[in-house]
Amino acid sequence: MSTKLFTGRVGPKLGSDFFASRRRKFFRRLKKNSVAVIVSNPELTRSNDTEFPFRQSSDVLYLTGYPEHGSAVVLSNIGGVEKFSLFVLPKNQAMETWTGIRFGEKGAIKQFGADAAHPDSEFAKVLAGLISEAECVYYKFGVNAHYDEKFRKLWLESGQAALLNPGDILENLRHFKSKDEVALIAYACEVSAMAHVEAMSLCRPGMFEYQLQTVVESVFGFNGARAVAYNSIVAGGNNATVLHYTSNADRLRDGDLVLIDAGGEYHGYASDITRTFPVNGRFSEAQKEIYELVLSAQLAAIKAVKPGRTLNEIHGIAADRLRRGLVELGIISAEMRTRTGARKAIKKAVAAGTAADLPKLRDFFMHGTSHWMGLDVHDVPSDRSTRDDAVRPGNIFTVEPGLYFRADDRRIPERYRGIGIRIEDDILVTRDGYEVLTASVPKSVDEIESIMAQGKARWSA
Ligand code: GLY
Ligand code: MN
Ligand code: MN
Repeated sequence: MSTKLFTGRVGPKLGSDFFASRRRKFFRRLKKNSVAVIVSNPELTRSNDTEFPFRQSSDVLYLTGYPEHGSAVVLSNIGGVEKFSLFVLPKNQAMETWTGIRFGEKGAIKQFGADAAHPDSEFAKVLAGLISEAECVYYKFGVNAHYDEKFRKLWLESGQAALLNPGDILENLRHFKSKDEVALIAYACEVSAMAHVEAMSLCRPGMFEYQLQTVVESVFGFNGARAVAYNSIVAGGNNATVLHYTSNADRLRDGDLVLIDAGGEYHGYASDITRTFPVNGRFSEAQKEIYELVLSAQLAAIKAVKPGRTLNEIHGIAADRLRRGLVELGIISAEMRTRTGARKAIKKAVAAGTAADLPKLRDFFMHGTSHWMGLDVHDVPSDRSTRDDAVRPGNIFTVEPGLYFRADDRRIPERYRGIGIRIEDDILVTRDGYEVLTASVPKSVDEIESIMAQGKARWSA
């Protein structure tokens, strides 16, 4: 592999005030005399007595960075006294010998800045005291069943202070990325971009999809992005028409395209990149026609980003471009060129009982153009109505139009069947427009073919 990309860089470090500053923002939004409880993710079994790599819940990460399971964050302001408590797995020499050093209560205070720390076993006892004095308690059910059960009992027995969702505060805070968060996301994007370039330059017919997956993920890891932000998708040919294809088990065939949707995670922050390129390094004419169309839709949508726009408007721009292009390529009928025309044609076909036979944009572009991105790849806010909110500086989202023509779809010209293309970049909204955080992965036909030709030369030298 190219030594140039295996720099072994580790990326930006966190400032000392990184987490404390978020807790201050959280306290400012907490109602008076409240107790907010934010729990860790559960550890999940992979096989018998081994576990999946643990990923902390994004809310715990946001507020504290505490990395261990079996922990809960409590932020309270009873009587106006702001207090940050951590419940953690206690030190235990025998356990630590097997499964690694724990921070314990002392570490929670010293290294994570907690005002108080308790062993996990005291969760119910300590919280009962706090909740009995609270007017409001904040708790989100469904993250960790172990705590849900304990908390429900406590709340029911407590005289039932008002129950609120901490997400109402956290989702809004997490939606606006601070400068130091942007630096972490930008680094995740930079490392992931390098990984995609490396995959392009190493790709050869006959390789297995999982081999390209390994290339991409090793570049992530070697440069400090030690987890994937989501399961990597490496989909050759018709597999690319399965949106979340992750088996990555097939051979890549000469003449097919390969779609790679993969992003590394850095300090919990995601990146999310898709590129689609020809396995043999040269686009066929039919592939180029579809590729150029998806690219023009993506570029038009990105160009429209500025404060005040909405995700639904950005989606509309991409969808309109795709609809026009599909008419020009003879894949959908001319009356479908506009949104209104398409609506009418579909209505008519539904009335005639022929809707399934009528090719329409939705059949080939069946997902949204954008989602928010941050600590979760599909980040908060989770409310879909935020797609109609004006985007603001500090928001980060993807722009990822695609077209997917299944090999068995007889309604479309044969030359396009089995082609699946998505192009995805991560966009930061700035004061006067936007920044493409993943711009260093090329996406024009010429640039891609040139990288692949250079890669081939390197390997045959
Ligand atoms: N990688 C998942 C997505 O693009 O939304
Ligand atoms: Mn995405
Ligand atoms: Mn993606």
